[in-house]
Amino acid sequence: MLSPYCEFYLEIRTLIVGFGRVSQAFVSTLIRQKPYLFRRYGIEISLIGAVEGGKPTFHSAYSEDGLDLELLLSTKRQQGRISSYPRAGGHLSSRELIRESGAQLLIEATPTNLTDGEPGLTHIRTAISAGMHIVTSNKGPLVVSLNELRRFAQQKTVELMYSAAVAGELPVMPIGSCGLAGSAIRRIEGILNATTNFVLTQMHKRELDMMNALDEAKRLGIAERDPNLDIEGFDTAAKLLIATNSLMEANIKLSEVDVSGIRFVTPNLISEAKQKGCVLKLVGSAHRHETAIKIKVAVEEIPRIDPFYFVDETGKAVRIHTDLFGETTLMSSSSGPRFTAASILRDLINICGSSSSLSH
Ligand SMILES: NC(=O)c1ccc[n+]([C@@H]2O[C@H](COP(=O)([O-])OP(=O)(O)OC[C@H]3O[C@@H](n4cnc5c(N)ncnc54)[C@H](OP(=O)(O)O)[C@@H]3O)[C@@H](O)[C@H]2O)c1
Repeated sequence: MLSPYCEFYLEIRTLIVGFGRVSQAFVSTLIRQKPYLFRRYGIEISLIGAVEGGKPTFHSAYSEDGLDLELLLSTKRQQGRISSYPRAGGHLSSRELIRESGAQLLIEATPTNLTDGEPGLTHIRTAISAGMHIVTSNKGPLVVSLNELRRFAQQKTVELMYSAAVAGELPVMPIGSCGLAGSAIRRIEGILNATTNFVLTQMHKRELDMMNALDEAKRLGIAERDPNLDIEGFDTAAKLLIATNSLMEANIKLSEVDVSGIRFVTPNLISEAKQKGCVLKLVGSAHRHETAIKIKVAVEEIPRIDPFYFVDETGKAVRIHTDLFGETTLMSSSSGPRFTAASILRDLINICGSSSSLSH
């Protein structure tokens, strides 16, 4: 049956690899949005498989007729592992499922590894080889091998989309690639990490020291148990690197980024900034200097006349300077798995709309 607002019906068989916070939030979003997706876009996302774990055992659920999303979530929440999914649970590995499930699209949401991109890099390469489209929130494979993966995806005429990996709630990638199409990006600057922005905000407003502010972020579930990648500035660097390599035609490596985090920020530095009418923010910036592009992540004093001054708590912002549009600023006060899940859904809908390999 066709939607009254859409002239086609498209079912897309989907596989999720990594079933942590983001993927569970995605499944919840799918349950909530299902009628809207059909009505507005004529799309039905059929989740035929999911897999998690791998150290040492994989836990999977697979049904070629589609999994029951409510049952998948309640199995995970009540039993702890999706392999307990009634009749379709098992221990298929990620690679087996990618190669053999017959899915058309992979959602890759395993942990970020900025050193070698694994296991996500192998998952994405395997999926491209199998002719699947990919949506990922995982920064690791993109930091390590973005340009290689984009070329490989082009060769195989599949889509690789990753707006969820670059502060998806803003949304940097869709604006940078479509909204500002035709213009050359000269500079990207952003407050791209919720944990560091929250910590600096608590130090500024409540005069907490770094340790107490970080403990508060952990208590509220904003910071990871191990927040080092955030605090040392590498999460910001990774997001900016992916955006820069994608949108500014660059091929910069993480080792070439000048990264410093917030660990050295003391209550004294905060009050010095306050006396000048400024706040301290961790800012990532990518600038084109003639032919070279330099990326830097550092704490900056932000004055009140700068819109970044008002980006506090878990907010994020990005400013993109182009030759044709001048300065475009995006701001968001939302952060967390729910918004990452929404970004994954956005990419998936865009793939359904643009790919000729998905027949309507
Ligand atoms: N959380 C956010 O708000 C957010 C925002 C933007 C981007 N991201 C990125 O999105 C990705 C997922 O984040 P998350 O918060 O959902 O992480 P998470 O809660 O740690 O979940 C990761 C999942 O991947 C599974 N996994 C690990 N190795 C695997 C393998 N080889 N094959 C299959 N599954 C494997 C884990 O299983 P076990 O539990 O058994 O290890 C777990 O289910 C990460 O790359 C993260 O950086 C997250």
